Amino acid sequence: MARSKITVVGAGNVGATAAHIAAARRLGDIVLVDIVDGLAQGKALDLSAAGPVLAYDCQITGTQDWAKTADSDIVIITSGLPRKPGMSRDDLLTKNVAIVKDVSEKTAKYSPDSFIIVVCNPLDAMTYTAAKVSGFADNKVMGMAGALDCARFNYFIADELGVSVEDVHSILMGGHGDDMVPLQRFTSVSGIPITELLDEDTIAGLIERTRNGGIEIVNLLGCSAYYAPAAGAIKMAEAILKDKKTVLSCCACCDSEYDAGGYFVGVPVILGKNGVEKIIELDLNNDEKTAFEKSLAHIKQLAAKVNKLI
Ligand code: LAC
Repeated sequence: MARSKITVVGAGNVGATAAHIAAARRLGDIVLVDIVDGLAQGKALDLSAAGPVLAYDCQITGTQDWAKTADSDIVIITSGLPRKPGMSRDDLLTKNVAIVKDVSEKTAKYSPDSFIIVVCNPLDAMTYTAAKVSGFADNKVMGMAGALDCARFNYFIADELGVSVEDVHSILMGGHGDDMVPLQRFTSVSGIPITELLDEDTIAGLIERTRNGGIEIVNLLGCSAYYAPAAGAIKMAEAILKDKKTVLSCCACCDSEYDAGGYFVGVPVILGKNGVEKIIELDLNNDEKTAFEKSLAHIKQLAAKVNKLI
């Protein structure tokens, strides 16, 4: 059986970490591609040299040559400027649209049958860009944000309760921004609703910390997070490559679903060998619906800016 091929675009912190996790989980051969001379090559060589110790034997190639990415099964787009302290994700839009447009064109040329997982910010607008520019079917293009934001929420809940992170499950909707919508009603610890275990104020504090999870790290590190974003992207790639039918939150194209009208927004989905196989429509209550609609309105504004730039 042929090995899967994963291209990771951008050999910066997120890209190299994604390649590392993909190799350690033995998901397939990996191509790291970057425009910076030597960066992808150097990281690929270093990652390959870790293989004998960590017992992975996949091919890891670093290159500036897109021809080497040909016929990838999955293309993970991490390239783009990251946030610095004082910046919002939206501040990156103009520069990152140009980058994502370029790499989406190349993805469509070299790997027309691939799935695209977008990681760069502003996430929902960049996913929209990749979909429009590549022309790929809606089920084949998705954005990694829900997997990250839920992971943060789950970690904060587990830490607060002193329980295993494995036991916490959550759903989060809306955009990957300050107006993201963590849904406490659909969050549980081994099936026990968190409302049984934590009081309202504590839950509200954990939700707020999740909303600000990205900037908390930017302020500490001086640059964007990368371990958890990379882990989220690889979780999605694994769900597709292994046809796991994983239920998670991610940025997916919703048309009649949630009355979104063809925009990419964070929703619960089933991910399997056909990419986004189903969008799960939850019966939101009024507060949840209002929060989701506010977030969607913001995404539509950013998409209008993208339309002028692509
Ligand atoms: C974050 C960036 C990747 O949330 O958006 O850390």
